[in-house]
Amino acid sequence: MGPKAVCLMISCALVAWHMHTTFSANYEEPWKIMIIHSLVRICQITVSQYILVEDESMSIKSFPAFLPYETFARWAANRLDAVVVAPDYQQFLKYHHPTQWNSVSDFVKSFLQPETLAKYGVDPNRVCITGDSSGATLAAAMTQQVIGDSEIPIKPKFQALIYPALQMLDTDLPSYRENEYGMLLPKYLAIKIMSEFYTTDESLQQALKTNQHIPAEYSHLFKFVNWSALLPERFKKGYVYTNPIYGSSEIVKKFPGIVDPTINPLLASDSMLSLLPLTYMLTCQHDVLRDDGLMYVTRLRNNGVQVFHEHIEKGFHGSFFLINWPFHLNLSLRLIDNFFSWVDENL
Ligand SMILES: *[C@@H]1O[C@H](CO)[C@@H](O)[C@H](O)[C@H]1NC(C)=O
Ligand SMILES: *[C@@H]1O[C@H](CO)[C@@H](O)[C@H](O)[C@H]1NC(C)=O
Repeated sequence: MGPKAVCLMISCALVAWHMHTTFSANYEEPWKIMIIHSLVRICQITVSQYILVEDESMSIKSFPAFLPYETFARWAANRLDAVVVAPDYQQFLKYHHPTQWNSVSDFVKSFLQPETLAKYGVDPNRVCITGDSSGATLAAAMTQQVIGDSEIPIKPKFQALIYPALQMLDTDLPSYRENEYGMLLPKYLAIKIMSEFYTTDESLQQALKTNQHIPAEYSHLFKFVNWSALLPERFKKGYVYTNPIYGSSEIVKKFPGIVDPTINPLLASDSMLSLLPLTYMLTCQHDVLRDDGLMYVTRLRNNGVQVFHEHIEKGFHGSFFLINWPFHLNLSLRLIDNFFSWVDENL
């Protein structure tokens, strides 16, 4: 039996286990979601196999999960009569921070100049920055960067963040606990992706799992991710907040990015947040990243920023982008339709 067959069997076993553990949640079109979840799991394991044997012929970009962005960009351009620019940054398994950050930052800097906008027929007063998941991390980070950089004359009218990851300080938030085995993005996978953003060295992943990866000298940052203070009551459920347990300084020395507000937008100061423009935030109930978004909403509002917050009770991580046949969901189509209406009104 070749490695692929083994993969498939392992995937099936995993899928069966995940189905068992997550089916109690409240989903629309649950069986379709199960099938998508299974396929993603199989693709993911197959991708890891190929990467392990360094088979360069297999491009991650060709997987179905990455196609919706082009569909989405086309829909946005048609529906909003807008210029949609989607920078194609380096894939995270091959390149590590700050490669993606630098390339997106260079792109945004050069694009948000009056001459460039004029060339593409873009109204400088009607620019917005958006992204989903790790793309929303970059979108939130870029918005902060653009607002703070006097060399960038054009400022966005709003930012739109679809279930962003905004911090790596606390990986034991109520949303992480509730969705440990959640659809499409279970906790272990979220941690793997976050850590592979920085490195393939497994020590970061291990440290994030124990949630004792931040040394006491960074204790001042914990107030920015203090869910006891920043989460609305109904999301705290029965969870009890405990103050952080500090670790050795080894991990932060190796990967200083994990405490850098430049790439962890939730760690930015109040004075930075108070400068941010109107914000659209979408969070999903069944998503490990839910509380990152919820806490950012609280902090933005505390700092006088106007926020339009859409919380999807039946939503899960990825539910915004399942739009390509046969993997399309009614929920995704509705969310995107609402999103376009909001953008249309506010841009
Ligand atoms: C999804 O939408 C289609 C067409 O609008 C409808 O027939 C179907 O019942 C919907 N499914 C669910 C689960 O809402
Ligand atoms: C978190 O907030 C609670 C109040 O809700 C407070 O008692 C606790 O000291 C705070 N902890 C940190 C680390 O900020």
